[in-house]
Amino acid sequence: MRVSTLLAAAASLATTVLADVDPIVIKGSHFFYKTNGSEYFVQGVAYQYPAADLANADPLAVPAGCTRDIPHLLAVRTNLISVYSVNPELDHSACMTALADAGIYVLLDLANTTYSINRADPAWSTSLYDHYTAVIDEFQSYNNILGFVVGNEVANSANTSTADAFVKAAVRDMKSYIAEKKYRAIPVGYAADDDADIRYQVAEYFDCGDASSAIDFYGLNNYEWCGDSSFAGSGYQARTSEFSSWNIPVFLSEYGCNTVEPRVFTEVQAIFGSDMTGVWSGGVVFEYFQDTNNYGLVSLEGSSVSLMTDYTSYSAQMAKITPSSTNSASYKVTNTAAAACPTTNSTWNVSPNLPPTPNDQVCSCMASSVQCAASPSLSDEDVGKLLGVVCGLSASACSGISADGATGVYGIYSPCDASAQLNYALNAYYLQQSSKGNGASACAFSGSATLQAATTAASCKSVLSSASSAAATATGGSSSGGSASSSTSKAAAAGGLVYHTIGVSNGFQAGLYMFVALTTGVLMIVL
Ligand SMILES: *[C@@H]1O[C@H](CO)[C@@H](O)[C@H](O)[C@H]1NC(C)=O
Ligand SMILES: *[C@@H]1O[C@H](CO)[C@@H](O)[C@H](O)[C@H]1NC(C)=O
Ligand SMILES: *[C@@H]1O[C@H](CO)[C@@H](O)[C@H](O)[C@H]1NC(C)=O
Ligand SMILES: *[C@@H]1O[C@H](CO)[C@@H](O)[C@H](O)[C@H]1NC(C)=O
Repeated sequence: MRVSTLLAAAASLATTVLADVDPIVIKGSHFFYKTNGSEYFVQGVAYQYPAADLANADPLAVPAGCTRDIPHLLAVRTNLISVYSVNPELDHSACMTALADAGIYVLLDLANTTYSINRADPAWSTSLYDHYTAVIDEFQSYNNILGFVVGNEVANSANTSTADAFVKAAVRDMKSYIAEKKYRAIPVGYAADDDADIRYQVAEYFDCGDASSAIDFYGLNNYEWCGDSSFAGSGYQARTSEFSSWNIPVFLSEYGCNTVEPRVFTEVQAIFGSDMTGVWSGGVVFEYFQDTNNYGLVSLEGSSVSLMTDYTSYSAQMAKITPSSTNSASYKVTNTAAAACPTTNSTWNVSPNLPPTPNDQVCSCMASSVQCAASPSLSDEDVGKLLGVVCGLSASACSGISADGATGVYGIYSPCDASAQLNYALNAYYLQQSSKGNGASACAFSGSATLQAATTAASCKSVLSSASSAAATATGGSSSGGSASSSTSKAAAAGGLVYHTIGVSNGFQAGLYMFVALTTGVLMIVL
C-alpha cells in the first residue's frame, strides 16, 4: 500500500476512535462534559512508574502497562490519571486510545525529567519552549487530554518564589501557542506545592492580571489530611474558604498524606462531599505505583502488579462517593473576577513582569551576527565556564542574557541556549574593551574566542528588530499585572533612550520603565 493511503487510513481510524470521548470544557469555576453539560469531577490517580524504573519513565508509552492498569483504575472509579513526565518523541497512541475507551482523561505535565524549570536557577528558555510545544503537538489531538500542566511544585519556598515568573511566562506562551496552532482550546494550568509561607500568593500570582497569561485551572498538592482527620481539623476547611470565590476550577492535584499508616482515605468523603464540591473539582490521589516514598496503591513486581492495603481502603471510600453536581446550562457564573496580584514582601518576591518569549531564530540570528564568537569546538562544560568568566569580568556585558524574576528585568537573549549566550557575552565584552582601546586582546580567551566579520544576514535583520519590539511588549507591556501603554514597543523599535511612565491596571503601582535599545539590538528593561 502506498504511504499516503496508509496515512489516510490511519487518520480516519484515529478520527473514529477519538470521536467517542467528549472533551471537558471549563465554565466559571467548574469542569463540564462538553456535549451533555454534566459536571466533571476529577477522580484522579497520579500515574508514574517508580523513579528508579528509567525504562518506563514515560508511562503513556508503555501500552502493556496501560492495558494491565486500566481495569484496576476503573475499579476505583478513576476518570483521570495525572502524568508527570513524557517523551514527545515516543508513540502514545495505544495508551491514549485505551484510556479514552475507558473514559479516562489525562492531566499532563509539559515538563519532563530532562526539561523542566529549575527552581534553583530558573529560566524560560528556547530548549524548554521547544520541548513544551513538542508535547502539546504530540498530545493535542486526543480529546481525553483534560489539561496541560506547565509546572508542578516549581516554587516551593519563599527563596524560590521568583521561579514562578518563568513558569507564568510558560503559561502565557503555551496558551498563545495552542491558539496560534488552532488546536482545541485545551486548558493550561499549574500544580502547586502546599508551602504555608507562599501557598496563597502562588495561587493569586498565577490567576491574576491579563487573562492571556493567567492559568485556566489551579491544582493544589495538599497533604494536610492525615489519618482519620476532619474537614475542620485538617486544613481542608481553611483552604476551601481561601478558594471560595475563585473564577477558575481548583482541584487537589495530589492528596493522600501517609504520615499515619495504613491510610484510611477518609478525606475522599470530604473532597467529593457537599463541603467541598461547590469550590473544588475533585482530586488526584497520590499515587498508583508503590515507590520508595511509600504512597503506592499497587506494587509492581516484574511486569505485574499486586493490589496493596491502601488500594482496598481507597476503593472502599471511592465506592461511596456521589458528588452533587451542577449542570452547565443551569449554572450561572457568579465569580468572574481574577484574584488580585499578591503584594511583594519578604516571603513573596516576584515581579509581575514576565520573561520574554523564547525564539530560536532570534537566538541564532544574534549568535551569528557577532564580531567576537566562541570557538565552535568548546564543550558544554567549557561554554558554561567561559560564560562565568566573561560575566565575572563584566556584569554589564551579560545584562542582555541575564534574567531576574524578582526585579522583572530580563535581557532579550536570556532565553537563548548557553552557546548563543556565550557569543552574546563575548561580543559585548569585546565591544566594551574596544571602546576603551583594548579591543585587540579582548577576543581571545586562550583560543576559546575568535574575531569574525560581523554580518547580519538579510533574513535576520527583521527578526532582530522585531524581537526588540516584541520583547518590549512581552516584558514591559504584558506583565501579569495588566496591560500597559502600547507606546513602549514603539519606543523600543525606534531605538535610543526613552523614559515612559506606564499606567498598569489591576492594582499595580504605575512605574517608571526605562527602555534602552542599543545598536546591537539589545533591549534592557529596568523597572
Ligand atoms: C454525560 O456524559 C458523561 C460522559 O459520557 C457521562 O458519564 C454522564 O453520565 C453523562 N451525563 C448524563 C446526565 O447523561
Ligand atoms: C524529555 O523529552 C525530550 C524530547 O523533548 C526527550 O529527548 C527526553 O528523552 C525526554 N526525557 C525523558 C526522561 O523522558
Ligand atoms: C532556600 O532556603 C532553604 C533554607 O530555608 C535552603 O535549604 C535552600 O537551599 C534555599 N534554596 C535556594 C534556592 O536558595
Ligand atoms: C506577605 O504577604 C502575605 C499576603 O500577601 C502574608 O500572608 C504574609 O504573612 C506576608 N509575609 C510577611 C513576612 O510579612
